[in-house]
Amino acid sequence: MLDVSADSDLMGEDKSLPPGDAAAGPGGKDESSLLAEVSHELRLPIANLKLLVETLLDGAVNDPEVSRRMLARAQEEVERLGKLVVNLLSAEQVASSMRSCRPVSLEDRARYCADCLAKESRAKAVEIRLEIQPDFTVYANPEQLDQVLLNLVENAVKFTPAGGTVTIRSGNTPGSFAVIDTGIGMAESEIPKIYQRFYRIDRAQSRGSTGLGLSIVKHIVDLHGAKISVTSREGSGSTFSLEFPGPDGRP
Ligand SMILES: Nc1ncnc2c1ncn2[C@@H]1O[C@H](COP(=O)(O)OP(=O)(O)OP(=O)(O)O)[C@@H](O)[C@H]1O
Ligand SMILES: [Mg+2]
Repeated sequence: MLDVSADSDLMGEDKSLPPGDAAAGPGGKDESSLLAEVSHELRLPIANLKLLVETLLDGAVNDPEVSRRMLARAQEEVERLGKLVVNLLSAEQVASSMRSCRPVSLEDRARYCADCLAKESRAKAVEIRLEIQPDFTVYANPEQLDQVLLNLVENAVKFTPAGGTVTIRSGNTPGSFAVIDTGIGMAESEIPKIYQRFYRIDRAQSRGSTGLGLSIVKHIVDLHGAKISVTSREGSGSTFSLEFPGPDGRP
């Protein structure tokens, strides 16, 4: 009988990973290091998949319970690899897309975002609320605004325990809004690092995560000349506040 306790290490934290580089600032480091970072991120899931398949072929496949667990692990790794590719392409598209801004209804985009994430939020018993003034608009590229909302709300749902809420709320000034959750929050020392490519606070707990979401958000925010800030407390939730300028570049 295979020692299944061994496979818990397969997906565990990669102790060899370099620590985050807070000084590199949002979006991370030089573009020239991107290839090295991407290779690094690909190495662990591929090594894990290789080990899982080898273990199955070596006999684990004959134990239905063990093989089911290993295949479920393999599925998580494949999903992570798929998401990594999609996120990398999306980062590339953002960089090359023309900036075409117009006033966009925040309520429409927030509703679309809530619909896209309805399955995840239902599965986690986390409620997504919209508190948006009628006719509130954000001057932005609509697809990129969608990406910002989807990434922030996806995170908020992911890091909020069952029974919690995620609120998309319009602000008091034009173009400002916030995504507020009642989730696990973050230590203050982590906040400057979260926009770096591939950064995840707890890698062991983020199996399906690429750590690219917030770096894409920050990139879009910068392209729009907008601002993003976070307030958070461990155990009681996080608020991501955004301010998009108007057509004249002013708030
Ligand atoms: N609302 C939040 N509450 C608590 N922690 C958060 C929140 N949003 C982001 N984080 C932390 O910041 C890290 C980086 O977020 P980011 O969206 O870039 O990556 P990710 O969500 O881990 O991966 P992906 O976006 O590919 O799913 C997360 O792994 C998490 O540790
Ligand atoms: Mg994310």
